[in-house]
Parts: sequence; C-alpha cells; structure tokens
Amino acid sequence: MPDPTNSFDCAVTIAGTGSYLPEKILTNADLEVLVDTSDEWITSRTGIRERRIAADGQTTSDLATEAAKRAMEDAGVSAEDIDLIIVATVSPDAFFPATACYVQKNIGATNAMSFDISAACSGFLYGIQICRHFINTGHRKTALVIGAEKLSSMVDWEDRNTCILFGDGAGAAILKRDDTGTAGRKIISSSLGSDGRQTDILHVPGGGSACPITADNVDQKLNTIRMQGREVYKYAVNAMRRAVETVLDQAGLKADDVDMLIPHQANLRIIEAITDRMGIPHEKTFVNLDKYGNTSAAAVAIALDEANHTGAIKSGDNVVLVAFGAGLTWASTLVRW
Ligand code: UT7
Repeated sequence: MPDPTNSFDCAVTIAGTGSYLPEKILTNADLEVLVDTSDEWITSRTGIRERRIAADGQTTSDLATEAAKRAMEDAGVSAEDIDLIIVATVSPDAFFPATACYVQKNIGATNAMSFDISAACSGFLYGIQICRHFINTGHRKTALVIGAEKLSSMVDWEDRNTCILFGDGAGAAILKRDDTGTAGRKIISSSLGSDGRQTDILHVPGGGSACPITADNVDQKLNTIRMQGREVYKYAVNAMRRAVETVLDQAGLKADDVDMLIPHQANLRIIEAITDRMGIPHEKTFVNLDKYGNTSAAAVAIALDEANHTGAIKSGDNVVLVAFGAGLTWASTLVRW
C-alpha cells in the first residue's frame, strides 16, 4: 500500500558521510575476565569479536561531533550551511539539553535548529526521514543527522546476557536538497514503524520519571540495559524483513535488485536469517559488527560511512538501510547511490 508520508516534491540526497569510533578496544577475551562467557560463545552466537569503548570523560556528543566534522568535510559543507541538526541516541549526554545542542556548539553551526530523537537502534533512519520532510517542505536546506551512543555508560558489566553485545561510536550524514534532480545518492523511499506493546522486552527501567534515580534503584542496577534476547531476536527478523520489502515495493523493486543491504549491526545470525529468507546473497550485505558490536543508533550510520568510503557501494547502486530496536521500532530507507 502506498505510504502517503513517502510522497516528495524534491530530491533529497546524502551529500556526505562520516563516522568516529573511540580508540579503546574491548575484545571477547577481555570479557572472559569480567563474566562467565567465552570467545567461542560470543562469536558463534552473535558474530561479535570486539567493540570500542569511549574514554573516561568522552561523551556521546564528543563522539557525535567527530563524526559530524568528517561528514561535513566529505560533503564540502561549512558549519554555517547547516540549518538542522538531529542526534539519534539512547545515551544522551544528559536528559536535557539535547545532545544535538552540544554538537551545535562544538561545530559552531549557529544557523541550525537542533534536537534529539529517541528511537533506539532505528533512530538514525528515523532522523533521515525527519530531515527529508524538513527539506522537502522547504523549511530547511542542509541537515546533519547523527547516530551516536556511549552504551558502555549504561551496560551492566556483570550481566553476560547484555554486556557482550554493546559498544560505543557515532556515524553522521549530511542531507541536502537537489533541485537539479540529477545528483546521486538520492533517497527513494522510506518506511518507519513501532509497536509500543513491546516496550518491556528491551529497556532501561530506571532513571526516568517512572523510576527516578535513588540509591536503592542504583543498587538494583535499574539504570542499566535489560533485554529478553530471544523475544527481541524473533521480532527483529520479521520486522526488518518486512521493512526491507516495504521500501522495495514502494520503488517497484525486488530483492534481486538490491546491490547492498546495510542492516542494523546487532547479531550476524539475525542478518543472515533475513537475507537467507529474502534470497539476498551474503556478499551483498554489509557487516562490521565483528569490529564494533551493537552501537544502537550509531550502527547503520557507521556502516553506511564505511560502505561509502571503502567502495562497497558505488554510483547507481540500490542501497537498502534497515534497522530495528527498543520501542520496539523499525525503519528502512532505500537510496539510489
Ligand atoms: O539492538 C537491539 C536489538 N537487540 C538484539 O537484536 C538482540 C537480539 N537477541 C540476540 O541477539 C540473542 O538472543 C542473544 C545473542 C542476546 C542471545 O543468544 P541466544 O542464542 O538467543 O541465547 P539465549 O539467550 O537463548 O541463551 C542460551 C544459553 C543460556 O544458557 P542455558 O539457559 O541454555 O543454560 C544462557 O544463559 O546461553 C547462555 N548465555 C551465555 N553463555 C555464555 C547467555 N549469554 C551468554 C554469554 N556467554 N555471554
């Protein structure tokens, strides 16, 4: 069924990408010392071999700022050109002000309006679609959208069910209006969704207004990530597959037409379950979770930047981005690169 929110008068293009990963590497062998796990279990169940951890004092906005500067350089835009900044994150510097406002200060984008969105791992793709609407309606011309996370600050490092999965990092993209209609990297279609009945299967129960911070809550580690892994896994496979099919349908394409799938980097088994069911070959799937683990809103953004700068995607390719996360939320975007 056509999605009315997917109707656009002007072309919106991805003019540049950038990413930043903190230097510190935490390997599966390092985790064997912290919890009862093994490199063999983590690798075979998830595909993850190592992840990056932000330095003490390094904030989500610091990671986001570095990714933003690289995307701006790639796109050839100055800070003054940017009139919209969106940061997608579940690990903001603070409840308020928005992490996007810290980024605005850091890069000196004085002409921008700036805000955060919370859509967990789907946040970068939610952000792209929001920017697309602002640009399409003529309210904004040059947008900076960033997925950035410091998940190490909210992981229970004694819980082997979750601490092996997550990492820190940031990825960014510059979106611009293309009045000529001839520029590449054009966003073709997009699909977003959520199922609020599933709020409890992946969440941080404490720290918000429902369960304010108290010494007792912190003792119970209610300020850390809780996940029912198997439930999330099953939901992720179905929701991401449907999201990919929807953006292809909207563009009149089939799975065979996909040149590169850039999925959320949570678990290699989830990715292969989707691609195997859709008949998309593994070599047409971009995977970097072995190096970075699951960086939530940053994952697709980092993967897009790596695919862009390693030549994994080339001009004219049909590139499908797809993500899934807490909420539960899901999102997909088709770009003609
Ligand atoms: O980005 C947000 C989206 N999040 C996700 O997409 C995560 C989705 N879920 C998953 O990726 C997988 O469910 C996990 C990787 C989290 C877990 O894999 P699984 O194959 O579903 O394992 P399981 O939770 O069913 O656990 C199997 C066994 C259990 O032991 P018993 O009960 O069978 O004796 C666990 O206690 O593995 C045990 N286990 C571990 N063993 C060694 C759980 N975590 C570990 C561990 N090391 N780190």
